Amino acid sequence: MISSDAYLHVRGESQFIDDATLPEGTLYAAVLASPVAHGQITQLNLAPAQELEGVYAVLTAAHIPAQNQIGNLILDEPLLAVDEVHYCGQPIAMVVAQQADLAHQAVQAIAIQFAEQPAIIDARQAYRLGQLLLPPRTFSLGHIEKAWPQCDVVVEGTVESGGQEHIYLETQGAFAYPTENKGLKIIAATQSPSLVQRIVARVLGLPMHQIEVEVLRLGGGFGGKEEQATIWATLVALATFHLQKPVKLILSRHEDMRMTGKRHPYSSDFKIGLTHTGQILAYEVTFYQNAGASADLSPAILERTLFHATNSYFIPHIKATAISCRTHLPPNTAFRGFGAPQAVLVIEAAIAKAAEKLGVTAAVIQQKNLLKEGDRFPYGMTVTGNQSRRCWETAIQQYEVDKLAAQIKKFNAEHAFYKKGFAFIPICFGISFTSAFLNQASALVHVYVDGSVSISTSAVEMGQGVNSKIRQIASQIFSINTNRIKLNTTNTSRIANMSPTAASCSADLNGQATKQACLIILARLEKVARKKLQLRQVDEDEITIKNEMVCVNGKATNLTWSKLIPLAYFNRVSLSAQSHYATPHLYFNKTQEQGHPFAYYVFGTAITEATVDCLRGTYQIDTVKIVQDCGNSLNPLIDRGQVEGGIVQGIGWMTIEELIYTEQGRLLTDRLSTYKIPDIYFAPHEISVHFLENANNPEGLLHSKAVGEPPLIYGISAYFAIWQAMKAFRPDLQFTCSAPLTPEKVLLALYPNSY
Ligand code: MTE
Ligand code: MOS
Repeated sequence: MISSDAYLHVRGESQFIDDATLPEGTLYAAVLASPVAHGQITQLNLAPAQELEGVYAVLTAAHIPAQNQIGNLILDEPLLAVDEVHYCGQPIAMVVAQQADLAHQAVQAIAIQFAEQPAIIDARQAYRLGQLLLPPRTFSLGHIEKAWPQCDVVVEGTVESGGQEHIYLETQGAFAYPTENKGLKIIAATQSPSLVQRIVARVLGLPMHQIEVEVLRLGGGFGGKEEQATIWATLVALATFHLQKPVKLILSRHEDMRMTGKRHPYSSDFKIGLTHTGQILAYEVTFYQNAGASADLSPAILERTLFHATNSYFIPHIKATAISCRTHLPPNTAFRGFGAPQAVLVIEAAIAKAAEKLGVTAAVIQQKNLLKEGDRFPYGMTVTGNQSRRCWETAIQQYEVDKLAAQIKKFNAEHAFYKKGFAFIPICFGISFTSAFLNQASALVHVYVDGSVSISTSAVEMGQGVNSKIRQIASQIFSINTNRIKLNTTNTSRIANMSPTAASCSADLNGQATKQACLIILARLEKVARKKLQLRQVDEDEITIKNEMVCVNGKATNLTWSKLIPLAYFNRVSLSAQSHYATPHLYFNKTQEQGHPFAYYVFGTAITEATVDCLRGTYQIDTVKIVQDCGNSLNPLIDRGQVEGGIVQGIGWMTIEELIYTEQGRLLTDRLSTYKIPDIYFAPHEISVHFLENANNPEGLLHSKAVGEPPLIYGISAYFAIWQAMKAFRPDLQFTCSAPLTPEKVLLALYPNSY
């Protein structure tokens, strides 16, 4: 079944914030953002903007009625800068005007001056200067110091990985209008409606019940609207609060790229020790995370980096340390994978370097060290339902890897300047929010008297198809046509205290809550049906609904869904139910760094093949072949889409997506003309997705597994595939890992003495 949004999308009929029908008299906001990364504001003259005709207000921190604070994990982020600025793009003031153009023009008229100070843009530099968000954290297992002497080979190195811009199709924006008695309704493009509600309440000094936040859908979020949508929603709320008029704010792509945080760049040191047969005995790693100017979600992302430090491998002796460093970049934030891809790149680079030293392919080491059932992670959880080896072996068979290797060898022998390479990558991604309390969700199900069904949950639809999956659940429980079921907007008045739609578990959490709510209604309907059919022996006759027909012991009666629902209504039986679901058994002790943070793991293996033009340094990704563990997939079409999209996004991060800053902390690649993301020509020519068979997941919704984030990690194999091709051209190359591996970097590596 195709995603219910797909029909609307292809016709251009689906609505986003910028499409909403606006009330008369709506005003438009534009933001004055800092042009410098670090400095004091020495002069701020708003008068030239205020004097323009059609400008209603120019608001600064002085206009904030309660707290100028939008921080969540750490209270370190002002809504509007006061006296000093900490990143280029930081909001300082907001103009509200009759038209959007005029608001932008007025922003230009504001006179502002700075005493600029040196900017720190590098995590290690911030570390040296003591700019840490929080004390470092370490996960460990075994005795690392005792293990080194037992290793036959030990290799060390550093790994750099760059940031990544989300490029959701819909840029950040929000729209608010006043409701009665100083209340507000906010239409926001956020993954976290309840967070927006809480922060707006804090900033305006209102109780949360005065603020209603609604989300219809997002034109993509990818983590970029988990925390970073809050600021824009809060700004329009502030303007609406002051002017008591509807206010809308939409960032242009250019503004969005300049002002918002991205995936965290990491700089890491590793040391890995192995036996001569390739068994990994010891792994030590230190991650320096570039957090940007305020905490945002950095501490949580750092934690997932530690959880995934060993990817899909068992390593008996480990010491992994992670340090979040404060810099003068926009606050870096969630991005599909949430710190795990950064960790996986490092262990994979360590393996590649070790393979070079041992004179074997990386695959030999990878395969040998894959997790086994019952293996223990440094954080105390043991692996159950392990599919890592099955995914790997299925990939080798399914995709005839021996043949592929032979073809590549032949190709390389026949071509002087075009070379091919391929690389494997296994994945193991923990499903659940690592903060246990977030693993809860609610659903509210109404059956209307005409038999149609409206469902509200805490999930935000952002292209990942969660609404379709929830619709499927309800359709399955009630056994009614999906056309009868509508997923309603995500709204804080209908569902309270929502967790963000994130961590790949929103279908799991909200699907379970929906299932429970539907079962409550179903039980009531059963009673109504029994009465109508005059069945008294409650236990003897089994009542079910099958394809909209009430059945007794599997046999259809003439009582249909369409008749049953009004019957229940006239008998004054409630046709609404609310239910709450909390993932069982989750806990984590941060003092001991031990616990059971995940409901289950998602496994998979990908094989990526690339061709490099060794004269020009350009390359293409030929194929990506995947075995994906989706459990018993709820919706193979949606899951396939998630795998394909994730891979392409991951490849972009590893290859052509490069963020370049000046020394003063100004982003140079702040437009789509300079920041390149994969398009249809750059995307792999072939992506094959094979779902692992017989992979029922008892911990998941109807035995399925989550799929949203893990496939992004497959993209990492593009780095190694390209590197293999480069090595085919220049066998003396020594492996280095600095992502993205842009064509420029390939060329420089292939011709080191020519520049
Ligand atoms: N797919 C689309 N099309 N658009 C998105 O914004 N976000 C990703 C992933 N897939 C995203 C997406 C991220 S970062 C997450 S955490 C999950 O979807 C969230 O949705 P889920 O919990 O329903 O998987
Ligand atoms: Mo996803 S990065 O957890 O929004």
